[in-house]
Amino acid sequence: MSQVANTLSLYEKAGEAADSIRERISDLPDIAVVLGSGLGILVDQLTDRVIIPYSTIPHFPIPSVEGHAGRFVVGRIGQTGTSVIMLQGRFHHYEGLDLETVTFPIRVLRRLDLRSLILTAATGAIHPDLGPGSLICISDHLNLIGANPLRGRNDERFGPRFPDMSRVYSQRYRSIAAEVANELGIVLHNGVYACLPGPSYETPAEIRMLRTLGADVVGMSTVPEAIVARHCGIEVAAFALATNFAAGVTESTISHEEGVEEGRKAGPALGRIIKGIVDRLVDAEGAPHTKRPRST
Ligand code: HPA
Repeated sequence: MSQVANTLSLYEKAGEAADSIRERISDLPDIAVVLGSGLGILVDQLTDRVIIPYSTIPHFPIPSVEGHAGRFVVGRIGQTGTSVIMLQGRFHHYEGLDLETVTFPIRVLRRLDLRSLILTAATGAIHPDLGPGSLICISDHLNLIGANPLRGRNDERFGPRFPDMSRVYSQRYRSIAAEVANELGIVLHNGVYACLPGPSYETPAEIRMLRTLGADVVGMSTVPEAIVARHCGIEVAAFALATNFAAGVTESTISHEEGVEEGRKAGPALGRIIKGIVDRLVDAEGAPHTKRPRST
């Protein structure tokens, strides 16, 4: 990286990364989807795929977790052939990265003029009704990571110093998701996501605490990305897949490998919901309903 690049602001770095993506795709995507652990197979539903490894994009960190390939996959989806950008591989605080780095891809999406984001994540089920394989539409979150991605100097070009978080997860998207799931005959729960830093899973006492605090599922991602997306005016939907019962909910212990496997099994159902949402967000003529300014 050049010395000049090091003096760039976050806004400029995200802009350079966005330019590098823009050069490689024919038209700008309307909707972005971040794929959680084991959910990478959702890229299989894209046609006319363009693959852009993170390693080829300026200022991008490289993910270190197995099951996270580290690339953008741009392609078309659903009946309307909407252009979608999928992030196969995300960054986590537990990798030793600060939250500004973890959420860099979201800033890049903003610099690509994206206004619509679907986040997905593997989670542990705190609520006893959400067994492994359950799909949950996230209604709200508890940020217990011990940090905030917006900490530090605020750049007004992204958003305000003190952004409102009363409605992080779009009611409009949640209603569409419920309708789509209902039509497809897929059970979609609602729930509150508690975000912890990890990487160790929680203890049973911690899970009892989280349940008392009102959490239904627990994970180590999603929340920093949702906060940054809302800060810069992106509308957000987030889906959790319960890959295991959280510690102490049942007698069983927790393994990452089993979670990845559970993601493989439930991935197609989540993929169908996402495809249905994309079709609803884009009308028959292909015009996005995503409030994106057509030029910036
Ligand atoms: N805890 C935290 N994160 C997780 C879990 C869990 O039980 N399962 C999948 N991600």
